[in-house]
Amino acid sequence: MSTNIILTGDRPTGNLHIGHYVGSLRKRVELQNSGKYETFIMIADAQGLTDNAETPEKVRENVLNVALDYLAVGLDPKKSTIFIQSQIPELTELTFFYSNLVTVARLQRNPTVKTEIEQKEKFKNGVPVGFFTYPISQAADITAFNATVVPVGEDQLPMIEQTREIVHKFNSIYGETLVMPNAMVPENATEARLPGIDGNAKMGKSLNNAIYLSDDENTIAAKVKTMFTDPNHLRVEDPGNTTDNPVFIYLSVFAKPEHFSKFLPDYKNYAELAAHYERGGLGDVKVKKFLNEVLQETLRPIRERRQMFEKNPEYIMQMLKEGSAAARRVAAKTTDRVKRAMKLNYFE
Ligand code: TRP
Repeated sequence: MSTNIILTGDRPTGNLHIGHYVGSLRKRVELQNSGKYETFIMIADAQGLTDNAETPEKVRENVLNVALDYLAVGLDPKKSTIFIQSQIPELTELTFFYSNLVTVARLQRNPTVKTEIEQKEKFKNGVPVGFFTYPISQAADITAFNATVVPVGEDQLPMIEQTREIVHKFNSIYGETLVMPNAMVPENATEARLPGIDGNAKMGKSLNNAIYLSDDENTIAAKVKTMFTDPNHLRVEDPGNTTDNPVFIYLSVFAKPEHFSKFLPDYKNYAELAAHYERGGLGDVKVKKFLNEVLQETLRPIRERRQMFEKNPEYIMQMLKEGSAAARRVAAKTTDRVKRAMKLNYFE
């Protein structure tokens, strides 16, 4: 068994956007390519159903979309095992066993689940048990693959914390069985949580404020045009604010020196551009035009790879099938170990 194992994934409830890209996908590709890890990437369709039980077709469609986004950014089935959660029945088995080790009160305290419940209109009349307990299923996902490292956005930290508690409790009751995972979050706070184009702290489908990896050139340009900037920067001469200004936040994340020399050679780098805006004398139109160029340069190769893979959905499904079979072998071994530890190995 390799000592460095990565497990992470996404719910297939929509296309992935640039927030996913800078917050997580980019890092995953880097870790995958470092050759230092065995990498498992899971499309969490079963978790997706915990708040989409009545729209299974939405989850199903997005399994393919997310897989395309993965391949488009450079996740590579030759280097990573990419698989579908629901195809690994052992994960539900582990979830059932772990649920004995978690109290209702502890689940109620999970801040991410709490926020999600508050935000969901459809949960006003009651929260599905499956949704409420998804942190336990996430612990199953992580431990089934003996993951040591779980690269996630910071909203997922409470899940890793709960997983660690489950591992600790399991091992202290049944003996050393499960591997203790560690979260890995983006070091850079801006990258960890890219705001929406409207300045909302969260970028997402339901907020209608995201730029998707699959957006075409005109869509990106139109979205950049509508982006919020500093509302007090009314005239070009006015001093501007760059700190809660999504256009500048995006530039600070995406604009590289080569973008400046290619599209805006009056400035060497982000710091020079931001300083001018703050002093006054730099208009929003010019800055947005530059941001559009930067995003187009960044997203074009991703979109082109995506379009190439889109032509061959059979290849994607075959890749997912093989990935799921490989993942299942690993999860089955862990489940055997778990059952043995819990004295459920009657016929061995
Ligand atoms: N909760 C994650 C999301 O919302 C998806 C997920 C499911 C996951 N199981 C996981 C992430 C295990 C990391 C590890 O996208």
